[in-house]
Amino acid sequence: MKIFLTGASGFVGVAFAEAAHRRGHHVIGVFGASAASVPGLAQKIVLDLTNRAAVTSALLEHFPDTVVNCAAVAEPAQCEADPARSDALNVALPTLLAQLANHLSARLVHISTEQVFDGTAAPYATDSRPNPINLYGRQKLLSERAVQAAARTFAVTVRAPLLSGNSPAGRRSLHERLFAEWAAGQTPRVYTDEIRQPCTAGSLAEVLVELCERTDLHGVVHWAGHEPLSRHELARRIRAHFKLAETSAPILAITRADTPAVSATRPANLTLDLQPLAGLLKTQPETFEAQLDQFIVPPPFREWYHAQN
Ligand SMILES: NC(=O)c1ccc[n+]([C@@H]2O[C@H](COP(=O)([O-])OP(=O)(O)OC[C@H]3O[C@@H](n4cnc5c(N)ncnc54)[C@H](OP(=O)(O)O)[C@@H]3O)[C@@H](O)[C@H]2O)c1
Repeated sequence: MKIFLTGASGFVGVAFAEAAHRRGHHVIGVFGASAASVPGLAQKIVLDLTNRAAVTSALLEHFPDTVVNCAAVAEPAQCEADPARSDALNVALPTLLAQLANHLSARLVHISTEQVFDGTAAPYATDSRPNPINLYGRQKLLSERAVQAAARTFAVTVRAPLLSGNSPAGRRSLHERLFAEWAAGQTPRVYTDEIRQPCTAGSLAEVLVELCERTDLHGVVHWAGHEPLSRHELARRIRAHFKLAETSAPILAITRADTPAVSATRPANLTLDLQPLAGLLKTQPETFEAQLDQFIVPPPFREWYHAQN
């Protein structure tokens, strides 16, 4: 199948390119500012995805069977810092992709976030009431609705959790951020009462590939890891997995009440109910133990890590 992949240089996009290549798909990867080389791509194109005319002509030229949208401003803080840019990437782009997918009768696989929920009424089912408490969540909810409105019969949107794994630059995921703070001599402050259900970017990528192939699945679905854990427990288990001492890799347990202004924009508990997707796919939700086994020491912090042992 010919797949038009936006965000090919990103955390999820890189994992998707590899997973789709393994399944024998022809992936055309769209890059923005990154000059990275991404394994698994049949073709690479450079495109500013905020340019509607350029996106339209690229899709009409390549005429893909499927569009997979991994481009976004995926960090809540970056959305707040540049609302116009994040609106263009997080809302206007998926809206346009859905209109074009509908026009081309192409499948559209889009990614949303667990942050469409406010975190007060977990676990969340696919039909639970969204109530985002930050701009990122509001933009993603708008994107879900626009995609469904424009391409109801062609589109599926996956709400994804906090992602773990090994990111392209080694600075993005859960364990990589902890390493960055430890290597800088800092003490990560982690919430004991903020609950997340992470999965690896690789697991999400496998699901996205299956959804490219399973054109019978539509609407909004959930994917995450097997178990919800507090950020504090996640950090503790990462430190133990890498056999780091508490002195070189300290962790400060805090609660949401310690940071009321920050907590107002961070949902407390984002446990997701994975039905019906978990029963329909070959990919199974990963335990956090299975995720840990895939984590490598992030390349930017290898020197620091080896100095600890
Ligand atoms: N990471 C997470 O923990 C997480 C959790 C839940 C959901 N998600 C969702 O998963 C999806 C993928 O996220 P991610 O973490 O993989 O994001 P990411 O690593 O930040 O990648 C973003 C991608 O968007 C591309 N992009 C941004 N602006 C562009 C522009 N103007 N023109 C062309 N390309 C542009 C970037 O390309 P260049 O770098 O080449 O410019 C990059 O490939 C997003 O929808 C995100 O909301 C992520």
